[in-house]
Amino acid sequence: MKQPKPRLLRRFAPRNDKGKMFYLAVFILIIVLLLLLSAVWPPDSPWSPWWKTYKKTGRAAIKLAGISSKDKIYELGSGDGEFILLVAKETRATCVGIEIDPLRHFIARVRVRFANLSSKITLKRKSFYDEDLSSATVIYVYLIPRVLKQLLPKLKKELKKGTKIISYKYTMDLKLVKEDKKEKLYLYKI
Ligand SMILES: C[S@@+](CC[C@H](N)C(=O)[O-])C[C@H]1O[C@@H](n2cnc3c(N)ncnc32)[C@H](O)[C@@H]1O
Repeated sequence: MKQPKPRLLRRFAPRNDKGKMFYLAVFILIIVLLLLLSAVWPPDSPWSPWWKTYKKTGRAAIKLAGISSKDKIYELGSGDGEFILLVAKETRATCVGIEIDPLRHFIARVRVRFANLSSKITLKRKSFYDEDLSSATVIYVYLIPRVLKQLLPKLKKELKKGTKIISYKYTMDLKLVKEDKKEKLYLYKI
């Protein structure tokens, strides 16, 4: 025997094709609004997929800092792994990516596994404030100014003399060594 639908479902169930189209339009509108919102959301929030380092900028960062296979690079807030994958592939440097957001960390893990780069890249899901950065030769950051400011004392305390820091888009309160104006990349040295 057919079970009757709960009252609430019966009340909101589309009665004809017009009703179905209405629900579909509302669904699409919500998705579009979420996508638009995520584009303007602060870059340190988990809902900001478009705040990332794309390959062109990544290659410019590698060139600006002269990253080679001898380097150990830490990306603080490594997102979905786009930059760290590029560095490992193109320079064979040892890479460590630290990301607090579980979803982005998971995506990065899958990408690293598929790219067969697990021997070159270590990913950690944690806050970069809890990581010892003293073995780095290069630090890469794409973080908002407030976070860069908070992070600076830790960098000054832990990093060895000569360690390079590349910041994308936002400057830091350190002496600038070099910059790529077009790509908005800033290179500093401790
Ligand atoms: C603007 S996105 C940049 C992502 C990646 N670095 C890139 O350039 O493609 C900043 C990232 O930093 C992460 N993040 C912010 N604060 C963090 C923290 N305290 N520890 C680890 N990750 C953090 C965010 O979750 C986000 O994925």
